[in-house]
Amino acid sequence: MSSRLNRRSLLLSPAMAAAAAQAPSGKRPIVISSANGLLCCERARTLIERGHDTLDAVVSGVGIVEDDPKDTSVGYGGLPNEEGIVELDACVMHGPTRRAGSVASLRNIKNPAKVAKLVMEMTDHVMIVGEGALRFARTMGFKEENLLTEQTRLAWLVWKQSLRDGEGRNNWTDGLDAPLKKPTAALRQLFPNATEETLAWAQHVARFPTTGTINCLALNAKGEMSGCTTTSGLAWKIPGRIGDSPVIGAGLYVDQEVGAAGSTGRGEENIRVCGAHTIVEAMRQGKSPNEACLEALRRIARNYDQDLTRLKKFDITFYALRKDGAMGSAGLFAGQRYAVNDGGSSRLLDCVSLYDRK
Ligand code: GLY
Repeated sequence: MSSRLNRRSLLLSPAMAAAAAQAPSGKRPIVISSANGLLCCERARTLIERGHDTLDAVVSGVGIVEDDPKDTSVGYGGLPNEEGIVELDACVMHGPTRRAGSVASLRNIKNPAKVAKLVMEMTDHVMIVGEGALRFARTMGFKEENLLTEQTRLAWLVWKQSLRDGEGRNNWTDGLDAPLKKPTAALRQLFPNATEETLAWAQHVARFPTTGTINCLALNAKGEMSGCTTTSGLAWKIPGRIGDSPVIGAGLYVDQEVGAAGSTGRGEENIRVCGAHTIVEAMRQGKSPNEACLEALRRIARNYDQDLTRLKKFDITFYALRKDGAMGSAGLFAGQRYAVNDGGSSRLLDCVSLYDRK
């Protein structure tokens, strides 16, 4: 999830947010997403108002973020794997037909959510990965392109330069025989247009690899639901690493009888608790969306015996939308927000959290 937010957002106080989160909104369509989805929610809800299917709406909505090079956690411009190749994961679930589709480790195609939807619609499979996913996308007519931008190529090189052997050496920095100069001088030569801000950002993500993502959940006036999660996954990952986003039941789950849930953040933690499925089952048993999300977070905390020293090393946020329109979101630590659109412009609400701010 990117921290770049749209100016049109309206930030609510925690008290207003809690009230809004628990209040079912009657028959209005509702779309929620991670905080990077303000425009996504707006597009998806507008499409639903115009009569589009909820799955078409969320896939179109997340497409805005997949196409946006400024969001470095999703689609085009996502941070690459350790070899500098962007690998994307996505999945979709369609409530009314109870169908699902997923792709993982997909290269060169900037809209994996659309490919996941076609896996659902055009094949007898649920999940296709790697080279097979790329061939499938080609067969479906998708155009291949390089998903690495100048900004993410810079960040990848900074990360490579940050690695050290036992002697403190790195083959990607100036040699021993090189004239002494500032460590960033070579980078400046390679990226003459990079701003100080971009360089600082690259140094930050090199040190603290991100797991962004967008999760989007929708409900229409007829009570039909769908969801989608799409991501470039963990920055600098081992090629082929797959997080929670394309895993049905972890990064996304939709049960037309109950509701939908999804996640952003460190996928390894979520896979071990099947977070989205856990949340939908907790809502089935009567928990509010916020309480259900907290239940999944408690299971993650339990996997570390509530050891805050280790828990503080990652972030994870869950999102939930119940069939009656109640919604919620919870992060492991306070300070997270999520996007909502139930009419007009999207707004941001505060997430509840298991622990106080890091
Ligand atoms: N949640 C995104 C990932 O871990 O890949």
